[in-house]
Amino acid sequence: MRLSVNVDHVATLRNARGGNFPCPVEAARISMASGADGVTMHLREDRRHIRDRDLERVAAEVETRLNFEMAATEEMVALCERLRPPACCIVPEKRAELTTEGGLDAIKAGPFLAEAIKRLAGLGIEVSLFVEPNASQIARTAELGAQAIELHTGTYADAPAEARPALAAKLADAAALAKSLGLLCHAGHGLTYETITPIAAIPEISEVSIGHFLISTSIFEGLPTAIARMKGLIAAARR
Ligand code: PXP
Repeated sequence: MRLSVNVDHVATLRNARGGNFPCPVEAARISMASGADGVTMHLREDRRHIRDRDLERVAAEVETRLNFEMAATEEMVALCERLRPPACCIVPEKRAELTTEGGLDAIKAGPFLAEAIKRLAGLGIEVSLFVEPNASQIARTAELGAQAIELHTGTYADAPAEARPALAAKLADAAALAKSLGLLCHAGHGLTYETITPIAAIPEISEVSIGHFLISTSIFEGLPTAIARMKGLIAAARR
C-alpha cells in the first residue's frame, strides 16, 4: 500500500504570513526522503493553500508520484494536461467549504466529467474519482472510464470509535466492488494514527492519501517521524 502525503497544509501555514516559509515543495522533498510513496497537492479554485507555482515546481523538481487533486473544470484539466502528473484525483469543490466535504456525484455530473476523464486518461494520466463508498457511484466511475476510485473515508474517520467497525466494513465492501469492476482503489480523508489500521487492512486498497493529520502532528514530532510511524502502522495492518 502506497502512502501519498498531502502537503496542502504546509502551504496553509506559509500563506498565513505571506512569505515563502514553510515551503510545500520542500515538504514534498522531505516526504519522499522519509519513505512516502507519493505526494498529493490540491490546487483549489481560490488558491487558498497550494498555488500554481508549488504544483509546477513539484512536478518539475521532485522525484515523486505526484497526485494532482483537482475539480473537473476547464482550467484544472488544461493545467493537468500541461503538467502531466502520473495521477490525478477529481474531487467536487465548493468555494465555501473548509475541506472536500463529500464524494463526487459521478451519476449527476454533467458531460464535462466524462470529457475530462477522456482527455486526461488519453495522456496516460491515471485518473481517479473521489467517491463515497456507494455501489452506484462506483459502478458509474467504471462506466465513465476512470482507472481508479478514491474512497472517501471521512465519515468513517470522524465517527465515534464504536461506530467505526461497521463503516470500515462498508469501505471494505466498496473496495471489493471496485476491484471486481476493474478499478484501482485508493482511500483518504481524515485518517490518523488511530483510524488507519482497519483501512490499511483492506487488501484491495492500494494507496492512502493523508494530509491534515500528518502535517499537523509533524509540528510536534517532525515530518520524517510522522511518516515513518504512519508507514509502520500501514505495514503492520498489511501483515
Ligand atoms: N483525499 C482527498 C480527495 C481529499 O480532498 C483530501 C483532503 O484534501 C484528502 C484525501 C486528505 O484528507 P486529510 O487532509 O483529511 O488527510
